[in-house]
Amino acid sequence: MRLYTLLAAAKINLYLEILGDRCDGFHELVMVMQSISLADRVTVRGLNMPMIQLRCDHPQVPTDATNLAYRAAMLLQEKFPDVANKSGGVEITIDKRIPVGAGLAGGSSNGAAALVGLNLLWDLGLTQMELQELGAELGSDVPFCVMGGTAIATGRGEELDPLTGLDSLWVVLAKFETLSVATPWAYKTYRQQFHPTYISASDQSTLAERQARIHSGPMVSAISAKDGAAIGRHLYNDLEKVVLPTHPEVSQLRDAMAAYGGLGTLMTGSGPTIFTLAETQTEAEVIQTQVRSQLAHPSLKFWVAQFSPTGIRLVD
Ligand code: C5P
Repeated sequence: MRLYTLLAAAKINLYLEILGDRCDGFHELVMVMQSISLADRVTVRGLNMPMIQLRCDHPQVPTDATNLAYRAAMLLQEKFPDVANKSGGVEITIDKRIPVGAGLAGGSSNGAAALVGLNLLWDLGLTQMELQELGAELGSDVPFCVMGGTAIATGRGEELDPLTGLDSLWVVLAKFETLSVATPWAYKTYRQQFHPTYISASDQSTLAERQARIHSGPMVSAISAKDGAAIGRHLYNDLEKVVLPTHPEVSQLRDAMAAYGGLGTLMTGSGPTIFTLAETQTEAEVIQTQVRSQLAHPSLKFWVAQFSPTGIRLVD
């Protein structure tokens, strides 16, 4: 049976601003997303029977229809019943490297990898844009995970505008292994505490104006100029306002990371992973060593990764 192995990249948010509340329970966002080299390995292997099987080496990852890779296979079977049934089923194997519940889009990236892999396995012939559109049905971050690189994301996060790559920067990531943050909790708490303006479908011009601000804003200018120091100065995430006060240990970690230099420090997505940007791998490793020795917490884990121009990459 044929099989394809893919690397599914994690993402960090260099910028996350909540523009408003929407009628569908989601929030209008303006984000700058960046793929990094920390990646899971996802294999899709054809089965003779029309079934979906999923295995993962991480005990906290569900292997049923709540897993986005499993749901990606279900979605393609539903949309393309002739092709998918004729070709049989699939066994999806996930080797987890991206921490779970971390704000790094690990689950979304696995869903994106399953879409890309099954497109090949079942000879569906879908374009990247079509895969991104299908990805939006699975989750807000899945289209970006399919596309990868650097992009402005608006709407729920599924409307993408690619930016010229920034693949030379490095990043140190740190997370308490025992702490995860549920994304719905982070947004709900933000809504309760900060009351973002309700944006109805008829407010589209206001929305377009607000979204346009990011294009001329300092973060996108810094990325266009490939100015690492300016990128570091303009890192921003609205969700820090709810996650950091609730989890003082994450706030302490953020302070420790920021104190050891680098270009800038931020929480990614709904957290609780904190990252610091660095110009070089050596600088990133020095920051990691210093923070590790200062905090010396048994459940604190670190990763050093590089910005990546790709989201999903086929392994030969
Ligand atoms: O789209 P996804 O399933 O990844 O989103 C997870 C949860 O995060 C949503 O159910 C919602 O509670 C919250 N969310 C939001 N606004 C967004 C994206 C996510 O409120 N733009």
